[in-house]
Amino acid sequence: MDVRFEPSSGLHGELRAPADKSISHRAALLGAMASEPTRIENYLHAADTDSTLAAVRALGALVDERDGVVTVRGTGLREARVPAGPIDVGNAGTLLRLLPGWLAAQEGRTFTLDGDESIRRRPVGRVAEPLRFMGAEIEAREDRFPPLTITGARLRSIAYELPVASAQVKSCILLAALAADGATTVGEPARSRDHTERMLLRAGVNIHRNGRHVTVVNADELVLDRVVVPSDPSSAAFAIAAGVLVAGSRLLVRDVGANWTRTGFLRIVQRMRGIVIGDLEDESGELIAHEPICDLDIAHGALEGTTVEPEEVPLAIDELPLVALLGCFAEGETVVRGAQELRLKESDRIATVVEGLRGLGAEIEATEDGFAVRGTGGLRGGAIDAAGDHRLAMMGAVAGLASREGVTVAGMEAAAVSYPGFVEDIAALS
Ligand code: S3P
Repeated sequence: MDVRFEPSSGLHGELRAPADKSISHRAALLGAMASEPTRIENYLHAADTDSTLAAVRALGALVDERDGVVTVRGTGLREARVPAGPIDVGNAGTLLRLLPGWLAAQEGRTFTLDGDESIRRRPVGRVAEPLRFMGAEIEAREDRFPPLTITGARLRSIAYELPVASAQVKSCILLAALAADGATTVGEPARSRDHTERMLLRAGVNIHRNGRHVTVVNADELVLDRVVVPSDPSSAAFAIAAGVLVAGSRLLVRDVGANWTRTGFLRIVQRMRGIVIGDLEDESGELIAHEPICDLDIAHGALEGTTVEPEEVPLAIDELPLVALLGCFAEGETVVRGAQELRLKESDRIATVVEGLRGLGAEIEATEDGFAVRGTGGLRGGAIDAAGDHRLAMMGAVAGLASREGVTVAGMEAAAVSYPGFVEDIAALS
């Protein structure tokens, strides 16, 4: 589906971004692992998170929805049912990486996870290795890709250093650790989003953070009770980028998740001198059990180039395409380093962002682990192919609003299934 985005003469008003995807996945999964019902308010209904609800149903959880509240009645930590066939994760990388953590604890039972063509190119060796150390039996195509087959076992606790900062892999190990035989410690090379840790703490689990290490003690049960999902800062980022880039704009984005492990993009925008004002959470050493929210006030203004360093990357990983877009409009150079993980997302996001923006007139080069953009104060426009990647489709839409000549996005359906109604909400402010 080709969609055309014409240049905007200014975005004005208020909007709410869709519900947080990462927190929705975790609420459904932990709800399925819990012993008491979990009420989830503002659950994200999009393709990926609907795959998670279908998966937990297939595993024996009861899911129903009334008045916008999703209630999950779980099976408990060790009682997942074996479904009739493979579990279809669709296009959801987070489901593909987190769910094996729970399944690894289902003694003697075998489960297979598979998904669409794009998910079959996403690496799973990174979760297979720690789960094998814990005692589960794991098989994958070429030992690296889905379909992924997990045979659960009585798990051992481990101490594991993640080779790459990945909240998905960290979370997988933390979920498996709940049923292991003692305390499991996971170290990450740089801090990544901590929604799993916060939710486990709320569910009564003995979990602690010490710098880059998290230790979780095995648990008899989880009781989560109620989760209120905030708006997704990664989705809000599209509206924020549009507000900062389109001349004359002034926007209020309401109730955005302000967890500091998700607001790296906002700190980068502020460093570029973008006008984004809100009550963001400060970096916290101690784990806390809730997800703060805030309103963000955004205005158009001139930008300066910046360098994004490797330790910032996991805190802004999904927003880095937007950093490239902002870089096109900034004065001077914008460089992102240490972001090789981008090559393993829904598309090779270093290649697709660089080719896509170049096609719109940007001066941008790919590097091994990121990109460098020379800002020219604006962007001509043209056509961009979303490459089946929802974040690229959304970047193209924002680029269109901010460009001189408008942008046609080919493959906009990737965004429509991930952010239902949101592109229309942003365009309506124009
Ligand atoms: C996610 C973690 C990130 C992110 C993805 C969602 C999560 O992936 O890119 O969109 O919910 O844990 P990695 O942890 O693999 O970097």
